[in-house]
Amino acid sequence: MLILAIETSCDDTSCAVLEVKGTKSQKFKVLASVVSSQIKIHAPFGGVVPTLAAREHVKNLPVVFEQTLSQAGVSMHDIDYIAVTQGPGLVIALLVGINFARGLAYAYDKKIIPVNHIAGHIFSNWLLGTPVPFPLLNIVVSGGHTELILMKKPGAYKNIGATRDDAAGEAFDKAARMLGLSYPGGPQIAARAKNGNPKAYALPRPMIHSKNYEFSFAGLKTAVLYALRKEPSIKKNKKKLTNFCASFEQAVADVIVAKTVRAAKEYKAKTVALSGGVSANDRLRAVLSQTVRAELPRVKLLIPEKKLTTDNAAMIAVAAFFERKNAVSWKRVDANPNLSLS
Ligand code: KG4
Ligand code: ZN
Repeated sequence: MLILAIETSCDDTSCAVLEVKGTKSQKFKVLASVVSSQIKIHAPFGGVVPTLAAREHVKNLPVVFEQTLSQAGVSMHDIDYIAVTQGPGLVIALLVGINFARGLAYAYDKKIIPVNHIAGHIFSNWLLGTPVPFPLLNIVVSGGHTELILMKKPGAYKNIGATRDDAAGEAFDKAARMLGLSYPGGPQIAARAKNGNPKAYALPRPMIHSKNYEFSFAGLKTAVLYALRKEPSIKKNKKKLTNFCASFEQAVADVIVAKTVRAAKEYKAKTVALSGGVSANDRLRAVLSQTVRAELPRVKLLIPEKKLTTDNAAMIAVAAFFERKNAVSWKRVDANPNLSLS
């Protein structure tokens, strides 16, 4: 089976062709995955500007699509399904991918599998090619989401906790802005934090001891603001900045890991899986690996390849495979910017 996937939910224009062999125990092979990032367009504004994102998708998607088919060495006639991100995301950005998919489906008489973007992040871990024992506890950390999602089987999602305010990636982006670093802030903070002392600054770990699985990062953002008011030289002094970035990363990682490990114990998860843009963070990856190894030695841990952590269409194609029973005619696909998983 060949799936062509299209992802335009935010500021990455992406297409991928996925080959799936076998239906019961599948083998996934990404024949091509092309991502065109709009970071340079949005960076001067300090965040994604929806209208600019949509215009860039309109301009780039046909080019990305052509490159993807050519790299995969297939034509539209070989494709079995077209998958497209339906939501959540920016509505005018989503609509560009959806309308492109509808045009292709009409022209080549194919069905469309609408895919939830968060499900895409979760299924990025299936590209590791290793079996996934259930129950599976997912921690999805991206620019728009911080969610703990329990799955008893593919497609059965139970949201057991989410952020009350800012998402983890948003916290990175806002803290970076206060530190005078460019957008997106996650990679900027990560680059500076490398050899820093994560204990140098005492930043809060919001809700780390609360009994539920909710997160809150707004308080951490305020703590960054006050710390910078008290010690403005953090922004200018290289050593201080390195230590501050390391301390910030550690605070975010500690909260995410503590809640994930506690939920994995309570729900008796056999697998814990990290995904989303923030899962590119080395400190988060390391803290989660060490803690799972120490506290849940029998639990399998899945962490996606770095190139699959931020938005891409390959993950959308894998999710589409598991959602293929939802394939519909091009006439019935629309964007849903607030689409939820369960
Ligand atoms: O999943 P993603 O590409 O887009 C959404 O669906 O939101 O995630 C983007 C987010 C941004 O907030 C970005 O700052 C963050 O992921 N990010 C990182 C790192 N790389 C990207 N955060 C921390 N450390 C990183 N290395
Ligand atoms: Zn995403």
